[in-house]
Amino acid sequence: MDASATTQPAAIRVEGLAKRYRAVVALDGLDLSVEQGAFYGLLGPNGAGKTTTVSVLATLARPDAGRVQVAGHDVVSEQAEVRRAIGIVFQEPSLDRELTAREHLDLQGRLYHLDDRRRRTGEALERVGLAADADRPVRGFSGGMKRRLEIARGLLHRPRVLFLDEPTLGLDVNARAGIWEQLRELHAAGGTTVFLTTHSMDEADALCERIGILDAGRLVAEGAPEALKSALGGDVVEIGFEQPDGCAAAELLARIEGVLSVTREPEAARLRITVRDGSRRLAALLEAVRPHVVSEVALHRPDLEHVFLHHTGHPFEPERLGGGG
Ligand SMILES: Nc1ncnc2c1ncn2[C@@H]1O[C@H](COP(=O)(O)OP(=O)(O)OP(=O)(O)O)[C@@H](O)[C@H]1O
Ligand SMILES: [Mg+2]
Repeated sequence: MDASATTQPAAIRVEGLAKRYRAVVALDGLDLSVEQGAFYGLLGPNGAGKTTTVSVLATLARPDAGRVQVAGHDVVSEQAEVRRAIGIVFQEPSLDRELTAREHLDLQGRLYHLDDRRRRTGEALERVGLAADADRPVRGFSGGMKRRLEIARGLLHRPRVLFLDEPTLGLDVNARAGIWEQLRELHAAGGTTVFLTTHSMDEADALCERIGILDAGRLVAEGAPEALKSALGGDVVEIGFEQPDGCAAAELLARIEGVLSVTREPEAARLRITVRDGSRRLAALLEAVRPHVVSEVALHRPDLEHVFLHHTGHPFEPERLGGGG
């Protein structure tokens, strides 16, 4: 039916990938496929297995089981070919404080035997907005500048697939916006497949054409962010109670017409209800919980947090439930 989708080989193909570190199961039978030129985001909480996935895809860790291909090459039997085809920006910063931006890129150019590394370095610095700072040592760079340099380095040899492991972790709002813009431009320029990991729902939503949601080493949902949200098929109503025992109303609510799912958050004394036509059914929902004292009611469209909750049954960042930012 959709023949065009199968004519181009995938940039990344993962089948049944498993990886453990002693007793810890980091990846538990992961399947995913990323089309060439796509902007793909792997979203997951701390410890979900994002870095492990990138490490295996980038040939830095060996899979225990499964088949993994990047740019058409097997990550185990064709390591060298994979390495030539990819660029990586690691979660942990990996710059030398004493080297300048230009020196970092020159070194990278030598590693990849690029004859035109001088020209490429100039272009790369220009592209990430570091031309004016090219000859300053990295120790004087801000977090955002360092990340931009790492991106420039990851791109210098014009990889077909660029891996970015949490590219905006620890950056302030401005620096984050700058990185987003760089990545959008890179992607708009075409050709490069971008595979990014993040534990920021906003980031995944803002940048990625498709996302995979990873939890405890398994992919629990995959698709375009909008599609994932609308697949929940309704609105979200959150009802907060004075006492946690309000959550006992969950069973009653689940029987109300139009209610698709009810998730209990007893620690927060709150129920989250996905419901068709939320505004029309709000009165019925409140009626059903009436014996319990309600302290808060909210009605909104689902966001990725709800998508995560819907597919895993637990919140993305439990510590956030207590309130605050
Ligand atoms: N080298 C290692 N030795 C032992 N356990 C490891 C190692 N690397 C990762 N793990 C474990 O594997 C699981 C997945 O870790 P991973 O670093 O892939 O998660 P992550 O999604 O990148 O998390 P974060 O958001 O914190 O970066 C975790 O339970 C982690 O403790
Ligand atoms: Mg990580």
